[in-house]
Amino acid sequence: MVVGELTESTDLLVLGGGPGGYVAAFKAADLGIQTTIIDAAPILGGVCLREGCIPSKALLHVAHLVQHAAEAKDLGVSFGEPKIDLEKVRGWKQLPEALIPASCCIDSTAALELKDVPKRLAVIGGGYIGLELGQVYAGLGSKVTVIEALERIAAGADEDLVRPLAAKLKKQFEAIFTGAKIESGKPKNGGVELTFAAGGQTHKERYDKVLISVGRRPNSDNIGIEHTKCVVNARGFIEVDAQRRTADKKIFAIGDVAGDPMLAHKASREGIVAAEAIAGHAVAYDVRAVPGVVYTSPELAWCGMTEAEAKAAGVEYKVGKFPWGASGRAIAMGKPEGVTKIICDARSQRVIGVGIVGEHAGDLIAEAALAIEMGAEAEDLALTVHPHPSISETLMEAAEGVFGTAIHQAK
Ligand code: NAI
Repeated sequence: MVVGELTESTDLLVLGGGPGGYVAAFKAADLGIQTTIIDAAPILGGVCLREGCIPSKALLHVAHLVQHAAEAKDLGVSFGEPKIDLEKVRGWKQLPEALIPASCCIDSTAALELKDVPKRLAVIGGGYIGLELGQVYAGLGSKVTVIEALERIAAGADEDLVRPLAAKLKKQFEAIFTGAKIESGKPKNGGVELTFAAGGQTHKERYDKVLISVGRRPNSDNIGIEHTKCVVNARGFIEVDAQRRTADKKIFAIGDVAGDPMLAHKASREGIVAAEAIAGHAVAYDVRAVPGVVYTSPELAWCGMTEAEAKAAGVEYKVGKFPWGASGRAIAMGKPEGVTKIICDARSQRVIGVGIVGEHAGDLIAEAALAIEMGAEAEDLALTVHPHPSISETLMEAAEGVFGTAIHQAK
C-alpha cells in the first residue's frame, strides 16, 4: 500500500513504522524534513500496535474484568459464572489478521490470536509476556504453569516488589516453577509433553499448548546492514551514539535494534531525538528513568535504579517503603497488597529509583519518572501535597519513609 506520492528520492527514509519509527517520521515531517516511511505490514504501529502492547492490554482488560467480578464477592456483590464468547473477545482486541499459525508451540503473536483456550497451558519464561498472557489465559479458564529459568519471575524488578504479584499468581496459576530447565518436548495426545528439571526433580507434564516467552531478539536481519558501515554487536544490537547515530553517519537506529530496554516508549523518545538531530538540533538521548511495567493485576512498575542495581553498583542509598495496607484508598478498593518503594542517594537524598506493585502502578510510575528526571529529592515528593484519598499518596508516604516520618505507617 502506498500512501501519498511514491518517489525515488527522499530526504529521510524511516525503515519500520513501530512506536519508534512512526514517531520519528512524524517528528521529522513536523520539522520540515521530507520524509518517507516504509513498513512491511499493511498498517503502521509495529509489534506494539499489531501484536504486542495494545492487543495484549485489551485481553488483559477482559481477564481483569473476570477476576474483579470474582473478587467482588468479598465486597458483598456476587456475579454468576462468566460466560466467555471467544469470538467476541477476539473481536474486541482484533487488528488485521496476524500471520503466524498456532500449533502446540505458540509465541505471543499466536497467543494473542486467541484461537482457543487450552485446558492446560505451559508458559516458558516468567517475564513481561509470560506473566501478562499467563494471566489472560488463566482469566479465560486455562490452567497455567509458568516455567522460568531464573530463580524468580519478573527478575528485572526488586524481589520485595515481585512478592505480592507472585503470591497472587500462585493462586491463579496451576504452578510456577523457577530455576527450571526444559529438557525436552514431544507431541502427546494432541498436545505436548514437556520434560523439565526444577527444585531438584525431573517433571514430565502434558500441556495442550506451550507459550514461548523467553525474550526477544532485535530485528536487524535482512535489511542490508552488511552493506553499510553500521556496527552490530554480539547481541545483534546496532551501536549508536547519544543522538542515535550509527557508525554510518547517514544512518540512525532507534528502538529494539538500538539496545535494551526493548520498550515502545523508549523507542518513541529515541525517535524524537533522532529526528531532531537530523534536523540539526543539539539534542541527546539522556534518559535516567525508562519505566518498565508488567500489566498484570496487580501491576508491577519500576524506573531508575532498582535496589539490587544500587547495591551492585556500590551506591550508598536509603529506602522508603509504604505498604498499601496503610492506604485508605487501597483498602477501599480491596487492593491492600501493593507496595510503593523509593530508593534515594544517601548523601544527596536524590531519588534514584522507584518501584511500585499494585493496581495502576503503571500510571503511578510516571510521577516517579518525572521526579528522577528532575533530580528531585525524596523530600520534594514528601512535601508535595497529594490528593486524598488516592493511591498517589503512597509515593508521598514512601518518600516520608526515607526519613522515618511516614504518618500513616506504624513503625
Ligand atoms: P522478558 O525478557 O521479559 O522475559 C523472558 C523470561 O524468560 C526471563 O524471565 C528469562 O529468565 C526467561 N527465560 C529465558 N530463557 C529461558 C528458558 N530457556 N527457559 C525458561 N525461562 C527462560 O521477555 P518476554 O516476556 O519474552 O518479552 C519480550 C519483550 O517484549 C521484552 O523485552 C519486553 O520489553 C517486551 N514486552 C513489554 C511489555 C510491557 O511493556 N508491558 C509486554 C510484553 C512484552
